[in-house]
Amino acid sequence: MRTPILAGNWKMYKTVAEAKSLVSACKDDLLAVAGVEVVFCPPFIAIPAVADLVAGSALGVGAQDMYWENEGAFTGEVSPLMVKEFCRYVVIGHSERREYFGESDADVNKKIQAAFRHGLTPIVCVGESLEIRQAGDTETWVAGQVRAALAGLSGEEATGLVFAYEPIWAIGTGLAATPQDAEHVCGAVVRATVRETYGADIADAVRIQYGGSIKPGNALDLMSQPNVDGGLVGGASLQAADFVAIVRHTARAKGLA
Ligand code: PGA
Repeated sequence: MRTPILAGNWKMYKTVAEAKSLVSACKDDLLAVAGVEVVFCPPFIAIPAVADLVAGSALGVGAQDMYWENEGAFTGEVSPLMVKEFCRYVVIGHSERREYFGESDADVNKKIQAAFRHGLTPIVCVGESLEIRQAGDTETWVAGQVRAALAGLSGEEATGLVFAYEPIWAIGTGLAATPQDAEHVCGAVVRATVRETYGADIADAVRIQYGGSIKPGNALDLMSQPNVDGGLVGGASLQAADFVAIVRHTARAKGLA
């Protein structure tokens, strides 16, 4: 069975002081939930403080992005060497990075390769815009992003990757995908595309999150879907009680609690 994984993507929210109080407010409750992997993804500047608070516990820390070079004259960027001092995970290719910062599929692939070179687990975001969805092109689009993300990866690397299917129209809108749509794209598109290249064993092992307006009220239904192995949670991960509730619903949905 795949271990469910929930990651809180804080985006550009929380000062260091606020980050510490949020983690302190939910840490014990999160640790009391067995069988679900939980990861905090704060802004870079709060990562050391959060890592310090969860050190030695089962809670994980992830970066929201990173550059692919080890070091150099790249003003404003953060390297894998810097990230891996504190983090086990790194979110790559979030739609906001793709849309506002011009990240291409090729950039995303370079970042994924860099993550594996440095022993980091990439959480790779894929997902369609409303226009693509309305044109009926969701499957083709998402499968293309998955293939581009996987280019050049070994089977072992593909197994260790976490995908996050995040339909762009569901992010921050309060309008989550239906459980059936989330299941369809996670299973019949993302997992099926992994299977094409790497076969059934690797496809069955890779973890696929859903993301986009996950809330305490819809988490149980979304996480009950067999091909949804957890979630990438934005807004609701900024509230301790909501994030804890989502983690608990996930454990229940997967028969762990
Ligand atoms: P949301 O964001 O939960 O606020 O919709 C999800 C994400 O962008 O990862």
